[in-house]
Amino acid sequence: MPTVYGNSARPPRGDYSRDGAVLADYTCPQNYAAYTAADHETYRALYERQSRLLPGLACDEFIAALPSLGASTQIPRFDDINERLMKATGWQVVAVPGLIPEVPFFTLLANRQFPVTDWIRKPEEFDYIVEPDVFHDLFGHVPLLFNPVFADHMQAYGAGGLKAHGLGACEQLARLYWYTIEFGLIQQKNGSSSELRAYGAGILSSSGELVHAVKSAEPKRIALDLLRCMRTRYNIDSYQQTYFVIDSFQQLFDMTAPDFTPLYAQLKGLGELESDVLQSQDFIIQS
Ligand code: PHE
Ligand code: FE
Repeated sequence: MPTVYGNSARPPRGDYSRDGAVLADYTCPQNYAAYTAADHETYRALYERQSRLLPGLACDEFIAALPSLGASTQIPRFDDINERLMKATGWQVVAVPGLIPEVPFFTLLANRQFPVTDWIRKPEEFDYIVEPDVFHDLFGHVPLLFNPVFADHMQAYGAGGLKAHGLGACEQLARLYWYTIEFGLIQQKNGSSSELRAYGAGILSSSGELVHAVKSAEPKRIALDLLRCMRTRYNIDSYQQTYFVIDSFQQLFDMTAPDFTPLYAQLKGLGELESDVLQSQDFIIQS
């Protein structure tokens, strides 16, 4: 989630100067020489724990694309990923020093460039980190950029973000990002039956939330509805209390393709919803 949505009292922790190496679009060279042996070991251990958890919990498209990240025993070089990613979907990952503001973030996505934080968490943050680091951004977000439909959706989201910015609707659109790209669930079709799986990066890069989101009886799971989703507040510091479920990436793409201008106008007259309260029109999905 490399953008500054929501309110935070903490300044982002990246170094945004790096002696002039950060460009006007907030991208910078991946500082590969700065990684220590301990940094690579953190990545290796996170990757190993997380990849082991995926079967039956992550969507098939994610599991199929994960090996395309390359190295799993050290932090990959972004240039190496880009050789494969460019061929697959025309996307590229670009290094950034940390969270970046909305407009540069949307601009990169609209140009099929995904900003990836290049530094990695400290060992004491192994299980939980507030800000996205290279493990969350790469492992969580980049595999699905190898999927053509999801890749096109991300670009459309970026263009839609620039439009939302002009309409003063970034907060509403950010909720959609949160509940889909970060914390989305999908009904994976399996012959005539279907099974709930995760596709959101915030879930897929978290060992605790992956099981909670897909299997726990605690959270609410409802079919994605754009207005409902964009009215719903979210917590950034606990597991989600409600997840929104899609049928397929094509459904997500098609549902979000129309012009959101009238939706934003409608949302202005509707109140916000709390993330733990069901509404009478919610379509509940059983796990
Ligand atoms: N179609 C939306 C609009 O016109 C943009 C969008 C695309 C939003 C994809 C989310 C995801 O504003
Ligand atoms: Fe993220």
